[in-house]
Amino acid sequence: MRVSIIGTGYVGLTTGACLAFLGHQVTCVDSDQKKIASLQAGKIPIYEPHLTELLVEAKPNLQFCCDYGSAVPDAEVVFIAVGTPPSSDGSPDLQYLSAAAKGIGEHYTGDYVVVVNKSTVPIGSGNWVGSLVRESYEQRSGRKAEHRFSVASNPEFLREGTALHDSLYPDRVVIGADEVRALEVLYTLYRPILDQTFAAPPFLPRPEGLGAVPLISTELASAELIKYAANAFLALKISYINEIGQLAEKVGADIQHVAKGIGLDARIGTRFLQSGIGWGGSCFGKDTSALVATAAEYNLTMPIVSAAREINRRQRERVVDKLLGELKILKGRTVGLLGLAFKPNTDDLREAPAIDIARRLLERGCKVKVHDPVALHRFQEQHRDLAVVCCTTPEEVADDADALVLVTEWQQYRELDWEAMAGRMRSRIVLDGRNALDRARLLRFGFRYLGIAG
Ligand code: UGA
Repeated sequence: MRVSIIGTGYVGLTTGACLAFLGHQVTCVDSDQKKIASLQAGKIPIYEPHLTELLVEAKPNLQFCCDYGSAVPDAEVVFIAVGTPPSSDGSPDLQYLSAAAKGIGEHYTGDYVVVVNKSTVPIGSGNWVGSLVRESYEQRSGRKAEHRFSVASNPEFLREGTALHDSLYPDRVVIGADEVRALEVLYTLYRPILDQTFAAPPFLPRPEGLGAVPLISTELASAELIKYAANAFLALKISYINEIGQLAEKVGADIQHVAKGIGLDARIGTRFLQSGIGWGGSCFGKDTSALVATAAEYNLTMPIVSAAREINRRQRERVVDKLLGELKILKGRTVGLLGLAFKPNTDDLREAPAIDIARRLLERGCKVKVHDPVALHRFQEQHRDLAVVCCTTPEEVADDADALVLVTEWQQYRELDWEAMAGRMRSRIVLDGRNALDRARLLRFGFRYLGIAG
């Protein structure tokens, strides 16, 4: 099928690469000329494992361009995958979504196209996008849009760092539209994934035992709500284990054992029960906030979701409180942060706990040293305002540090020579913000080991 994708961020680029790999003819559009030029030259603007290799495989079916005129006129499916960043009042900024919808209407010339919202858009946006597309089509062509456009919602559930795996081998595919015709088009598009009939790339082998992928086809509003409800549920699962972790610490229980003990109940599940500093990233914070805001428009409160947000906020405060409890005076102390990205295997710093923690420590008069195996460069570009010392190795962070905080659980940090790290520090204090380090080993090297929860 002929597919166009507006926006080459995480979602757009991953979707484009996967669909082109599956054999569809894909054109990715982005207004950022520099980005498109580098994509045309085979350079990828984000850090995502295996994306470079998949793009090589997908190359014969994949084009990049800056103008809608080269992508939209005869497309069968157009995905909108533009950013919807939070605006100053916390609500999502829909200017890019609106521009994409208008651009599609202005440039489309065929008989029928499905416009798909892939960005996480506020509930009800599908109808709004449809009206923008139709209005701009009618204004430009002077003809009635009639049944030329359908709007669908196809939320993505990919995690940064495992985006390609999550896209090719999803737990489910959700498509929402109010017209059967649109659902049929998307069913055809996703058939290779639903039936798992494609030859798996060698670097992304198909998980053992994966058969057909379930398809949820539903109305527009349901698909839009599924995305928010899924992210909010995952967020509250994390906050729940962090809340239990606080009690675990008081009663002398081990939160990791507690998490395993409850997670092996199939009704609960072990995933997303990793306690620690809490969630960051561009999704959970924004989506839980949008869910609460949407509910408020209908005079509803969402106490469970709101509590999950509050607990997540407190986890970051707890880092500073714990260091204060240990060091007594923070002013003039040197604290090293291991990890900046909001989670391992990405260089994404959006809503990263490390930024927040660094800011709080600086406000308290600490000297803050930071390291990240992948995100350091991006951090230096985006956070010039933070007067921290950027280190190119974890060992450098340890030099003369009064305490180290593991903020992002990169594998590299687990495998460090912690004995040597101890020798470089002024005092041997480690706050394991992700409950990821080998506590017994650290104790052997004379560390005072602090967990964040439990
Ligand atoms: C999340 C969802 O997992 C995806 O399904 C969804 O598609 C995506 O948001 C989105 O809406 O675009 P992502 O934000 O990339 O994906 O990353 P996650 O792996 O979900 O991690 C989010 C945060 O939760 C990270 O800061 C991670 O460290 C934290 N986390 C995760 C925990 O603290 N504990 C856990 O057990 C799991």
